[in-house]
Parts: sequence; structure tokens; C-alpha cells
Amino acid sequence: MLGKPEKSDPLKDIKSSRGDELKGKKLVLCVTGSVASIEVPSLVRELMRHGAEVNVVMSEAAEKLVRPETLEWATGNPVVRKLTGRTEHVRLAGQWKGQADLVLIAPCTANTISKMALGIDDTPVTTVASMALGGGIPLVICPAAHEPMYRNPAVEANVLTLKQRGAEIVGPRYEEGKAKMSSVDEIVRSVIRKFTPQDLKGKRVLVTGGPTVEFIDPVRVLTNLSSGKMGLSLANEAWRRGAEVCYIFGGDRFPPDQIRSTHVRTTEEMRNAVVEELGSGRYDVFVSAAAPADFAPLSRRQRKLPTREGEITLVLKPTPKIIMEVRKRWPKVYIAAFKAETTGSKKELVAKTMEFRDRVGADLVVGNDVGGGRTIGKDTSSVVILGRKAVELSERPKERIAGAILDAIAAGLKWARPARR
Ligand SMILES: Cc1cc2nc3c(=O)[nH]c(=O)nc-3n(C[C@H](O)[C@H](O)[C@H](O)COP(=O)(O)O)c2cc1C
Repeated sequence: MLGKPEKSDPLKDIKSSRGDELKGKKLVLCVTGSVASIEVPSLVRELMRHGAEVNVVMSEAAEKLVRPETLEWATGNPVVRKLTGRTEHVRLAGQWKGQADLVLIAPCTANTISKMALGIDDTPVTTVASMALGGGIPLVICPAAHEPMYRNPAVEANVLTLKQRGAEIVGPRYEEGKAKMSSVDEIVRSVIRKFTPQDLKGKRVLVTGGPTVEFIDPVRVLTNLSSGKMGLSLANEAWRRGAEVCYIFGGDRFPPDQIRSTHVRTTEEMRNAVVEELGSGRYDVFVSAAAPADFAPLSRRQRKLPTREGEITLVLKPTPKIIMEVRKRWPKVYIAAFKAETTGSKKELVAKTMEFRDRVGADLVVGNDVGGGRTIGKDTSSVVILGRKAVELSERPKERIAGAILDAIAAGLKWARPARR
């Protein structure tokens, strides 16, 4: 029943084109009668692009909104529309070696939520869900409904019941009076997280990323070319590995809804947000990946500088050094920092990174050479990671660099625990 990946199948030729995090994983995607079901073909294709094999099960109400033929095309597998003598629910989610690795219900109606919480199995979807809940198959539920329908106290209580029984609820996001299904990207990220070793579970990680700006006048700023890609990759990766993450960032690269975040503009705003978070005393790790503007105009003009003034002289003052303050005030927090240099020589980069690590008292420093337009604003980077060990990484996507940095942080935390706790 579960479809096999076939290299020769033209409907499956997109598999793993974006990543292989879900390679070899069998997902059962249950679709119920919400208008959000029009997103399902995109969701299926994206799961496949990360390597998953997907089988769809539909409720009768879903069939009125999205055609089974579309989902058969999208998955390359037959769609289960009713249960027959072939006991499709057992083949998909029964306890045998071909069982699904995960059951995803997206979108999930208020009706199906309530039936699942009460153990009612009167549609192919609720029957598969029942098998998952009773058989220990991970269950991810993505609700979608009009807001009042979702706020129905009975539905709210049923969502809570499902959570308590181990189901993961992704979303909804509230918009235009609706409790809308989470975006395809967020659902895919949540599914991938289910298959990621949770080596940072129980850790609280504060990440900064992106540039800050310093105002010259109300409309002009001093800033730098940081894109925020590295900070965001680190926040995403820490979240994927089970950490509770807060992301404080400048620039226009926003994190997904699943990650708590604060958007700031100036270095002082970033400093204040960091101090407020760490002041809770809850954090284990501070990852300083932001590129704060190191200098700010001595005074900010209240009115826009007229262009006819000709040449002007700006006097700059240094901005607060966030890492230094964090090290001093929170000596037990594990600090991972970045050092950007334009050395051109690996030896010099390592020496300067080491010097920086010792000067600021960081536990780990990532050194990168940003000369010649490298790294800053780009999708890739090459770095040296100086933690307990020195690791050198040649040019690769920032997502993979983030993975290696978090490996080093996880190792450092394990080693440092007796001293820190
Ligand atoms: C066009 C249309 C859109 C609907 N959208 C939703 C929705 O987003 N969420 C929801 O809970 N119910 C929605 N409903 C109502 C459900 O389809 C209805 O409760 C149905 O009984 C659900 O059956 P199922 O849970 O077996 O799919 C919608 C109905 C229609 C006709």
C-alpha cells in the first residue's frame, strides 16, 4: 500500500531535490474538509523535495474541495478515499514493518479534531489517526477553521486533550478572523524536526542575527551588508534540534512563526533586548551572530540634513559591546561569537579569532574571512570554529555551517556542564 520511491516514476522525480532530511520516511498525509486543502498539492510536493514518500488519505468533505486525482498526481501514489476490505488504515498505520513513520493531518477541521479526541473513527482520516494515536506513530496536526469555530471551548479542550496524548499541534496562525493553517514551509520544518535528533532539547538558546542601523538623521543611517542569513540559519537549526529559541535580529529577514523573536533597529535596541532576555536567568547559550554597527554618529540630527549643505563631517562614537557585557553579567552562559576579518591568510585568521576568543571570554568563536565580498550577504561561507577543538570548514551553505557550529556548541555544553551548573 505504501508507495515505493521509483527513480523511473516521472511523478516522483523531484524527490530530495531540496534536501534529504526525510529520505526513506513514509508519511501519511490526511486531508480534511477545509478550504486550506487547496494548499495540499504544494505541501505534498515540498515534503517530497525533502525526500519523503507520501500517501494521502481524504475525508469525504475534503473531496468537495480538492480533487483526489490532483493528490494522486502530486504523490504519485493511489489516494485512500474510503476503507475497503483491504483495510487501508491497517496497511498504512498498523503495526507492521511497512507502517508510516509519521501521520500528518493538514488541514485538520474542528470536526476531525473533536472526533480524534473522543476516539471516534467514522472517516478514513479519523480511523488512520486512531491507529496512530493507539500505535505510537508520531501525529502532527495542522488545524484550520474560522476563528470562532476554533475558539469553541469544546474544540479548545479537544486540542488540549490531543496535545496531552502526544500529538503535536502546528499553528494555526490567526489572521482576518480565521485560524489559518500554518504555511507549507512551517509545516515542512515541523515534520523535519520530528526526525531530527533532539540533542539540544531542554536548552534555552538566545541568538542574535542581521545588521543594526545607526541614525544620522530621521531618514539616513549607517549600517553594514549583513543579510541575517547566518543568524537565522543558527536559530532555525537550534529550534530543529529541540532547543527553546529566541531570536533577536535586525534587517528584513524574518524568522518563521515557530521561533519567538524580537525585531530591533539600533545596536542599543539589540543590547537592551538581549539584556532583557538574559535577565530572565533562563538561558544556557548565547549565540552572537549579529553584525551590529560598531559606530554610531555622536549625535542624531532631529531634522533631515539638507543636501545643499555640501560636505559634512560625521563624528562617530563606538556602540555598546554586547558580548562583553553578557560575559561580565552572565558568567555561566555559554557564549558562541563570530569574528569577521579581512586577513586573506588562514593563519592570521585563526590567530585573530583566538585572540578575540580570549579577549571577550567566549566559549566558542567562529572566524570568517569577509574580504573580497566573501560571506557577508552571501548564501555560503567558509569558517574556522574554535571551540573545544578547532574545526575548519571549506565553503558551503550557511545552513550546513550552522549545523557544524551547533555540533560544537552541543559538545561544549556537555563537557562544560559540571562547571556551569
Ligand atoms: C467551502 C467549505 C470550507 C470549509 N472550511 C472549513 C475549515 O477551514 N475548517 C473547518 O473546521 N471546517 C470547514 N468546513 C466545514 C467542514 O467541511 C465540515 O465540518 C465537515 O463536516 C468536516 O468533515 P471532515 O472533518 O470529515 O473533513 C468547510 C466547509 C465548506 C463547505
